[in-house]
Amino acid sequence: MKTILITGGAGFIGSHVVRLFVSKYPDYKIVNLDKLTYAGNLANLKDIEKAKNYEFVKGDIVDADFIQKLFVEKQFDGVIHLAAESHVDRSISNPMEFIFTNIVGTVNLLNAARHIWSDNFEDKRFYHISTDEVYGSLGETGLFTETTAYDPHSPYSASKASSDHLVRAYLDTFKLPTIISNCSNNYGGFQFPEKLVPLFIHNIQNNKPLPVYGKGENIRDWLYVEDHANAIDLIFHKGVIGETYNIGGNNEWTNIDLIKVLCKKMDKKLGRETGTSEKLITYVKDRAGHDLRYAIDSSKLQKELGWEPSLQFEEGIEKTIDWYVANQDWLDNVASGDYLKYYDNQYSEDRF
Ligand code: NAD
Ligand code: DAU
Repeated sequence: MKTILITGGAGFIGSHVVRLFVSKYPDYKIVNLDKLTYAGNLANLKDIEKAKNYEFVKGDIVDADFIQKLFVEKQFDGVIHLAAESHVDRSISNPMEFIFTNIVGTVNLLNAARHIWSDNFEDKRFYHISTDEVYGSLGETGLFTETTAYDPHSPYSASKASSDHLVRAYLDTFKLPTIISNCSNNYGGFQFPEKLVPLFIHNIQNNKPLPVYGKGENIRDWLYVEDHANAIDLIFHKGVIGETYNIGGNNEWTNIDLIKVLCKKMDKKLGRETGTSEKLITYVKDRAGHDLRYAIDSSKLQKELGWEPSLQFEEGIEKTIDWYVANQDWLDNVASGDYLKYYDNQYSEDRF
């Protein structure tokens, strides 16, 4: 039986990856290590929490001693590293958490893997999950490929770029068997409502303003989260050590067009007159350093490993809206407590 460590498994993408691995691979013992920050929520994993091949460990990847001991105790065969501070706006208001978790935390995991595998790397792999934001911003044309030069602009993307460089440095220097993937914007169930899609669904439900940064002309490439989890499964098992794989939805939307789709679909879902939710759209002060456009060329992953997204956007966004409407309690629960303080700070008077 192989023991696989998944970090950040109580977060949005991590919970989908943990669920997939626990149910698809009964022969693997899946250890989910998560600090349970504001973004980590064990309710995301209720359906599998009692599975025999699953264990949750609460802990902080920034704590080097704890990480070393955990690796020695569990003797992991593989690592899928998703734990991170992941929200760009929070990285603007509080960059240091991003430096600690995304950079120091990643190095602690690399050191611990190196230590327990002590240069015997056969059948071992350290898979680092990264983002397309490391590549910076595109103009109106072009796509990010695996060889696009790094050009991060936010503390979040700079911290992820830094962790990617360190992962590659451990590959080159110590021959640690690493793989990296860089993915575009994910959407789907269990996403914390600080990110565009769940935030706007939640605000529409509650008749609150929809704060569009700048003119809403920024472009993102949206991928359904389960398609990302499937790509992670494929890359973990079939990806070539030392390689990087870009993952994207080939599905570009300007923010304002995506928001209008959400408004129309939510009006229908909530039985409101068409146009009701669009009236909530409010243009607010732009995000500092706001990247104009992200778009991914995922042809390497498609050609070499045979991956392709399973859902068209129309179906994915319907499923996502249905999920949030059906799981109103989940949404209301995470959007209380500290979230309200965050919301008031982030969207204070001077933004409107
Ligand atoms: P998320 O914020 O929803 O979840 C992050 C998880 O990491 C949480 O469960 C949190 O508790 C945990 N965590 C944070 N700091 C920790 C620490 N110090 N020690 C242990 N656990 C800690 O993030 P997400 O959106 O699911 O993103 C997961 C990964 O995928 C990140 O590495 C992110 O950079 C990357 N990514 C995200 C997207 C996206 O669209 N969301 C796209 C591409 C790549
Ligand atoms: O591209 C991958 C990245 O996608 C991941 O690495 C990040 O972890 C993830 O958070 C996401 O980053 P973005 O900054 O693109 O996602 P966010 O949902 O915060 O914003 C999407 C777009 O919507 C962006 O152009 C900013 C805009 N926006 C966002 C919020 C929260 C608004 O206009 N208003 C808002 O209130």
